[in-house]
Amino acid sequence: MSRLGLRAELLLRMGLPLAALVPFTVGTTWLDARSTADLVQDRTLTASARVIAERIESRDGVVDAPIPPAALEMFVGDVPDRVVYRVLDPDGDLVAGYPDGPMPDHRPKGHAPLHFDAVFQGRQVRAVALAQPIVDADGTSDGLVVVGSTLNNHDRLVSDLWLKALRDQVLLVAAACGLAAVGLTLGLARLTRLRERVAARDPDRPARLDDEDLPSEFRPLAVALDQAFARIEGDVAIQRRFVANAAHQLRTPLAILKTQASVGLGEDDVARKHDALRAVDRSVGAMSRLVNQLLSLARAERGAAVRKDTVDLVAILRGRLDDLAVLAVERGVDLAFETDLETLPFHGHATLLGEIAVNLVDNALRWTPPGGEVVVRLSRADAAVELVVEDTGPGVPAEARERVFERFHRLDRAGTDGTGLGLAIVREAVAAHGGAVTLQDRADGRSGLLAVVRLPFA
Ligand SMILES: Nc1ncnc2c1ncn2[C@@H]1O[C@H](COP(=O)(O)OP(=O)(O)OP(=O)(O)O)[C@@H](O)[C@H]1O
Ligand SMILES: [Mg+2]
Repeated sequence: MSRLGLRAELLLRMGLPLAALVPFTVGTTWLDARSTADLVQDRTLTASARVIAERIESRDGVVDAPIPPAALEMFVGDVPDRVVYRVLDPDGDLVAGYPDGPMPDHRPKGHAPLHFDAVFQGRQVRAVALAQPIVDADGTSDGLVVVGSTLNNHDRLVSDLWLKALRDQVLLVAAACGLAAVGLTLGLARLTRLRERVAARDPDRPARLDDEDLPSEFRPLAVALDQAFARIEGDVAIQRRFVANAAHQLRTPLAILKTQASVGLGEDDVARKHDALRAVDRSVGAMSRLVNQLLSLARAERGAAVRKDTVDLVAILRGRLDDLAVLAVERGVDLAFETDLETLPFHGHATLLGEIAVNLVDNALRWTPPGGEVVVRLSRADAAVELVVEDTGPGVPAEARERVFERFHRLDRAGTDGTGLGLAIVREAVAAHGGAVTLQDRADGRSGLLAVVRLPFA
């Protein structure tokens, strides 16, 4: 049914039960038609028998029964019927009519007509038997009049009555479906109006789709649409802000770079040219870090869509920490990796998983003063992997722990530089694996930050 239109489906759901009633009503209307036709035929038979009975008389002990034409003319109808009658005197002798005409299996009680079915010359007949008092010199005794008729007119009447009732019912069902179709069309037109409002929706001046005019059945749909639009528009706004920020972040170092290059070109002194070149080198380094972070973020943002394989988390971490060892030595910070695991198979994206560790450890190394220590721990916990990076730096105040995950958000601290994208990349990469990341205080009360990442096994 799902491929049908809503209107067709509703009509079907209404029309089918109605149609299912039809065989039932066909049966009952046929029974009604037959009992009406039975009644008509029985009354005609009784009337005919009475007309014959009234003419019976006994003269000098001889019973005479002239058959008046009116008694037989009653049966004239659309189709010819065979009428058969017989009149018996009180002794049971045939006075008039057919000797082999139908007879009831018992005499009628009193003078009430007795109706019965019989077979006459191989044909089904309906008949009536009527006792008629005959007066003669010896007193009064009952003769018997029997009139029968074939069923042609009776059957014709049944089918006429039945067809008429049936036609009325079919017309009724058709009219009900027609009216329902009109009603549904008018009702669904309100859905069309909702569609038009969705199509005409202006994202710059969004109007709520849900309003009082909508039928109550459509309002949950309108509410859901409003929510979906709000979510999408929120995402689009974030993307726009990101692109604007990224453009801004790139423009500033480019301008600085241009200035540094011009300064270097204008210098005649070799030592000063060297200074300018070193500055250019630093700027290019910073810019290349920015571009790499932007690319990492874009990759992490693809989220659940990234291709995942079974990878070894221990190997990935060891590889990335080796790269960072140089920075640790440079900063005079002790970097340690603690784990009981030889290998840790995990279903994920190797590069994104590496980005999580690199960005957290990079932060820890940058913010930890010389002589401090950074510890990375990897363990299994229930149905998840737990990665912890702990440092002895200044930490992040509790009220800033949400905001530092935002793109380009950096705490206002002198000293190190950075792009402000590291934690945003961590959050996206963790989300791409269905996990969660939190920043906490160290458990031992020392100053420093504890970053905890939990990644569930798929
Ligand atoms: N381990 C930490 N100790 C103290 N402060 C931290 C630590 N990690 C992050 N922060 C604060 O959070 C801010 C955001 O970190 P994030 O990694 O997102 O950006 P970044 O390190 O400044 O730049 P990037 O990592 O892109 O080079 C940092 O600027 C820093 O102020
Ligand atoms: Mg960082």
